Amino acid sequence: MNNVLVNPSFVDDFRQAAPYIQYLRGKTLVLAISSQILLRGKLDTLASDIQLLASLGVRLVLVHGIRHYLNQMISDAGGALSYHAGWRITDESTLRLVKQACGLVRCDWEALLSAGPAHMPNRSSRHLKVAGGNFLLAKPLGVLDGVDMGYTGRVRKVDTDAICRRLDEGCLVLVSPLGHSLSGKSFNLGLDEAAQALAVALKAEKLIFLGEKDGVLDEAGRVVSQLTAAEVDDCLVRVPQSAETARMLKAAVYALENGVNRAHILSGFDDGSLIHELFTRQGRGTALAQSAFMRIRAADTRDIGDIIHLITPLEQSGVLLPRSREYLETHIREFWVLEHDAHVCGCVALKLFTEQQAGELACLVVSPDIQEGGYGELLLEHVITQARQHSIKNLFALSTSTGSWFDERGFQAASLADLPPDRQVQYRQNQRQSKIYVRRLSQ
Ligand SMILES: CC(C)(COP(=O)(O)OP(=O)(O)OC[C@H]1O[C@@H](n2cnc3c(N)ncnc32)[C@H](O)[C@@H]1OP(=O)(O)O)[C@@H](O)C(=O)NCCC(=O)NCCS
Repeated sequence: MNNVLVNPSFVDDFRQAAPYIQYLRGKTLVLAISSQILLRGKLDTLASDIQLLASLGVRLVLVHGIRHYLNQMISDAGGALSYHAGWRITDESTLRLVKQACGLVRCDWEALLSAGPAHMPNRSSRHLKVAGGNFLLAKPLGVLDGVDMGYTGRVRKVDTDAICRRLDEGCLVLVSPLGHSLSGKSFNLGLDEAAQALAVALKAEKLIFLGEKDGVLDEAGRVVSQLTAAEVDDCLVRVPQSAETARMLKAAVYALENGVNRAHILSGFDDGSLIHELFTRQGRGTALAQSAFMRIRAADTRDIGDIIHLITPLEQSGVLLPRSREYLETHIREFWVLEHDAHVCGCVALKLFTEQQAGELACLVVSPDIQEGGYGELLLEHVITQARQHSIKNLFALSTSTGSWFDERGFQAASLADLPPDRQVQYRQNQRQSKIYVRRLSQ
């Protein structure tokens, strides 16, 4: 017997992280990192976490900000910060400082990422390769409301082929917020502008902003963990956010509306926030999606392991009827799963007795950590919709311990004789003496 102590929370955490590790492998993530983080953040651990992601096969594009360096440089040079309509006005002398700031910040990031991951052996042989280049083609913002914006630009095109080649070689692509035009001029780009354009052009899985705040905040100053793109305007009206968060939100919504799967806003100061956000269900900052985070989809054989994981404790405690892997393999078409990102966190089955225009709702489970959030009801509604599509008139549910849940949702007590004949035979065989409930469905 091995006496080595294993921290149970480590085992749980590792199990929770496993599907996310699998899901992120080979996916492209665009990380937009505010310049403040370089000034005050825990850089070695953040760089180490970025390297860890790369070592897990995540394709990374990092866009760095320069705002705070540039402001400092402008003020050191005795200049004034000039903005119009939320954009910085970039004259010739500011552009020179933009180039200097980009060089400086870029150099610091390259050094940080060259250090080798802190937690890996053979650090020197495993250091991450960083690639750069003229990946962003820019165009001038031009004259806005009669104000010449000078060398402030917008992204015209992203050289996705060149970036993808570097990513295929296993490099991290480091992009500065600076673009060049076909006429050979350079333009100052906002961090958010560059990051959103890269995420959309690369069809990135995620656009992640690491800024000063912990995420989007609610009225009480707590982090809003999830937002849909449609909720963003309302959120901004209700709770004014910092200028940086507001810019990030705008870019996040643009990215989501143009095909990026998820956007995240989190603190770059909070040690481990990136790992928490990517590998735990609850996350750390604010995750944004184009539509609802939870979805119900038909299960397939790849979900069997997750379904077993959900139902085993309930089978052991007698709440659910035991179902073998073979049973699940044969009947998987009767199942739906509740999915959050790559994580299965609920399931339900509908067994049809077509001849009797009856159906049985079975194996309804919501993962304990998200119970009482209305997901049980969501699964029930889904099954009712499916049942109606099959012209089912009587939807049964058999339960030993959840009777009142069905009771409160339009089910009534029924007797064995109400069940379809085949189901009556099974009922007698398994001797669980479950209570029988039925909900009459109008078509
Ligand atoms: C039953 C179950 C699916 C409900 O999922 P859920 O996502 O928590 O459900 P909802 O959020 O829609 O509903 C929550 C409500 O149900 C109540 N509830 C939860 N379990 C219950 C139970 N066993 N009996 C009665 N009510 C229950 C909660 O107290 C809560 O009540 P409230 O709205 O008054 O606060 C979930 O508790 C579960 O997985 N239980 C274990 C498996 C099980 O019993 N399955 C049913 C047998 S097929």
